[in-house]
Amino acid sequence: MTTLTHYLNDHTANPAVSDVITTITEVGKTISQLLRKGALADILGEAGNQNIQGEDQKKLDVLANDLLLDALAQNSHCAGVASEELDNATPANADGSLLVLFDPLDGSSNIDINMAVGTIFSILPYQRQGEDSENEDFLQAGNQQLAAGYLLYGTSTMLALTVDDNVLMFSLDPDSGDYVLIEDKVQIDADTSEYAINGSNYRYWCAPMQQYIDELIAGKDGVRGRNFNTRWVAAMVGDVHRILCRGGLFTYPFDTKDAKKAGKLRLMYEANPMSLLIERAGGSATDAVNRILDIEPTDIHQRVPVVLGSKNEVSYVKDLHMQHASK
Ligand code: AHG
Ligand code: MN
Ligand code: MN
Repeated sequence: MTTLTHYLNDHTANPAVSDVITTITEVGKTISQLLRKGALADILGEAGNQNIQGEDQKKLDVLANDLLLDALAQNSHCAGVASEELDNATPANADGSLLVLFDPLDGSSNIDINMAVGTIFSILPYQRQGEDSENEDFLQAGNQQLAAGYLLYGTSTMLALTVDDNVLMFSLDPDSGDYVLIEDKVQIDADTSEYAINGSNYRYWCAPMQQYIDELIAGKDGVRGRNFNTRWVAAMVGDVHRILCRGGLFTYPFDTKDAKKAGKLRLMYEANPMSLLIERAGGSATDAVNRILDIEPTDIHQRVPVVLGSKNEVSYVKDLHMQHASK
């Protein structure tokens, strides 16, 4: 049996990265316990305020954010923290060599209905050791990430982690409190017949995305010549986890629902970490056309359209977008 602690001690190249992963995953155990108690821990419902993105915060969004922030502030390797729930990045230990970004609670609308939620994290190098970190220090492309992953609080709590080119899956043993390795070198099939999208936004999508979904719905009667199946967890962690387990395509595409937003998902603490996991598992992650990991960020909270998962399907979506662009 290999635990996360064993794995990080024996296999990872950067001890500071291992230490920060340990801090995050320890907080994950606390969040997992709170979720298990649910209503009894008084964690459900609204916190009564909004984050910088105008979204209502749930009690658990705030609680998970504070737990991660407090724990990382005490980690000497962590030079700063950026979060969905914080207006600006918070400096931590100036001598640290790492920056940490996180979505403390992904899938907030699932909390009150006892459905899957998660925590997503991304670890970047810090270049100005000795000085206090600022927002600008975090503005690095996703291809610079040293490690990334998520905790999925589902029927069991799982950790998906990518570090040193490997994608690993651990399951939290509630008896021992250890994350136990259950899969190493996770890989996903290039082809799939399963896709995830919130179809209620159809009228706001651009023409190639509408065409793509029309083709999937037409199934064996249409140009694709086979049937497709929809799944939508309403928490990106759940959908990405399914894709790491059995392939698939997940998209939250560009839409015109809100002119100020290029998509719903946030580049730096949702799209980038998930893209690193998916690419290292042999899949692809794009904004429909371009590789997400190569986007140079201009704002820690910027949004991006996301199309990720099984390689050939992501490539097909890109082809449709290119065909429409050249018309
Ligand atoms: P968050 O709860 O961190 O704001 O993120 C929720 C995101 C993502 O996890 C999910 O895929 C998507 O929002 C669901 O959106 P819809 O409510 O439009 O289905
Ligand atoms: Mn989220
Ligand atoms: Mn969130």
